[in-house]
Amino acid sequence: MLISLDVIIDNEYVCPAEFADLPSAGVASILKRLKYASGWKKKLKALIPRGFKYTVLSDLLEFLISRTPLLDGKDEPPRFIEFGGGGFIPIGNHLVALMVTRAGLADGTTVIDIGSGIGRTAVALSKRFANIRYFGFDVVRFGVTWCQKHFAAAPSYRFQHANIFNSFYNPRGSETAETYQFPVPGRSADFVFATSVFTHMPRVEVAHYLRETARCLKRGGTAYFTCFIVDAESRRQIEAGVPLFRFRYSRDGSFIESLEEPDLAVAYEKADFEAMAAKAGLEVVAFYPGSWRGISYQDFQDAYVLRVTGEI
Ligand SMILES: C[S@@+](CC[C@H](N)C(=O)[O-])C[C@H]1O[C@@H](n2cnc3c(N)ncnc32)[C@H](O)[C@@H]1O
Repeated sequence: MLISLDVIIDNEYVCPAEFADLPSAGVASILKRLKYASGWKKKLKALIPRGFKYTVLSDLLEFLISRTPLLDGKDEPPRFIEFGGGGFIPIGNHLVALMVTRAGLADGTTVIDIGSGIGRTAVALSKRFANIRYFGFDVVRFGVTWCQKHFAAAPSYRFQHANIFNSFYNPRGSETAETYQFPVPGRSADFVFATSVFTHMPRVEVAHYLRETARCLKRGGTAYFTCFIVDAESRRQIEAGVPLFRFRYSRDGSFIESLEEPDLAVAYEKADFEAMAAKAGLEVVAFYPGSWRGISYQDFQDAYVLRVTGEI
């Protein structure tokens, strides 16, 4: 018979009396990672502390990717570099479908993918449309390396690494997003998007990326950004303890999930995000709440469709 049990998870002591409050933030974060990892190998990898995974191993991963053709999947990156919530093909297709229906993304346009990651949306775009001119950049070098290799025969798809610091994704980055100029000419893009990127960035950086978006968009151009937004509904849900994320801590006008990993998940007050967008010269066309709130919606994250006003 089990009389007493000391449970220590993620350096957190969970005494039996606290079982009613499970999962704690630490446990919930592990459970979430496990949920999205299928198969025992991936589940084991999901348990590797993120700091280790994205620093010490990143050079090795990059080396393996560039030197080992056997690791190349046909349409998907090697399984071990999966990040960004998993579901490479289905989620990529879903994100592109939403950008088409919600924001009018169409073939024949020039797009910028902020935080292109491991090419999830790029691959989906290339399958859906024949004539997209695409530019993607990201702070994680091995993702960019894989994309460059995968799209080597498609010159209309270009990827660039930006060695920008992000405490979660690129802790050894030497540049800052606060002043980073997207490496594309002004008024050159029809559509700019960032899926699950502002959810990992400090407020001052997001404000700058909104200004850069406005600079790069052609007149009448559209932006699509997914994010976590605190409004009356999500606040009510958080207070009722429904969503996995609670965004309990504030950081420079934003809300963060974890003090140890501040860029793990970042949320913005609705009025504040919209004011930042307006200041950058972007007007809100539509807002779509996401099911991270614990309410069933079309996508997990909240999303904004914005249009450049040209008035800054
Ligand atoms: C959750 S992943 C999403 C990747 C991709 N957008 C997708 O939907 O598959 C978050 C991405 O944001 C990138 N990122 C973080 N900070 C960034 C920054 N300042 N500029 C560009 N990308 C950034 C990360 O490297 C990572 O690839």
